[in-house]
Amino acid sequence: MVELRLPQNSRIGVGKTFHAAPDAKNVKRFKIYRWSPDDDRNPVTDTYEVDLDKIGPMVLDALIYIKNEIDPTLSFRRSCREGVCGSCAMNIDGHNTLACLKYIKDINSDVPIYPLPHMPVVKDLIPDLSGPYAQLREIDPWLKADTPPPPDKERLQSEDERKKLDGLYECVLCFCCSTSCPSYWWNGDKYLGPAVLLAAMRWVSDSRDEYAGERLSELEDSMRLYACRTIMNCTQTCPKGLNPAKAIAELKHLQVERKM
Ligand code: SF4
Ligand code: SF4
Ligand code: FES
Repeated sequence: MVELRLPQNSRIGVGKTFHAAPDAKNVKRFKIYRWSPDDDRNPVTDTYEVDLDKIGPMVLDALIYIKNEIDPTLSFRRSCREGVCGSCAMNIDGHNTLACLKYIKDINSDVPIYPLPHMPVVKDLIPDLSGPYAQLREIDPWLKADTPPPPDKERLQSEDERKKLDGLYECVLCFCCSTSCPSYWWNGDKYLGPAVLLAAMRWVSDSRDEYAGERLSELEDSMRLYACRTIMNCTQTCPKGLNPAKAIAELKHLQVERKM
């Protein structure tokens, strides 16, 4: 899998070390990026020694333990701790992933943790995702139809029509993919990025939606869709096992079909 190690340059200082209790027998070191708008030692990497015998198996368990028991100033997002809300996305051991789905035992060394790459940081491990969310709103991520629904039942789909949404509807909008994409790093103001394009494909593929043509027209732009260079970082990093690169390729294919 591709590694997205952030530059360990001299601008990131060495911060504090929080030692485990002397009698702790199963200690792992977590090296965590710290930045705060209220702090003048920015940015630094603080080191936390955690007794693994006291916590659950996931990196999110360690972060919650650190915040509750060692350093309440550490900030990160989380909600479901089941891989369904998408909020605990961060760069762990060089990979964008969900902290609640990442086993500590799969990391042999100290555990480096950074915010998602190439996003402004609000504080510590919390990226500012207002840009990608604004782009998501641009694609109207909801069902659009002029035909009124049947009065006595829902809009129905056949089993085959429903299957076309598999691999698309499961996205939790964590943006691990978009923030691993070099095209998005350099052109994130114009290129929609893999997460938003996968969402666009989800609605274009929905048999109940009546705006597929308009949706595709909105994407027909040299940057919004075509800035994807098929580098595949997005698919390699998706913690839900989805394939945004394939969704983007299918959107491009549909654009060609429309013109034939
Ligand atoms: S395949 Fe496209 S969207 Fe995915 S990482 Fe590469 S350039 Fe970005
Ligand atoms: S496609 Fe995967 S990595 Fe991208 S936002 Fe959805 S769940 Fe996250
Ligand atoms: S806490 Fe919800 S996906 Fe990790």
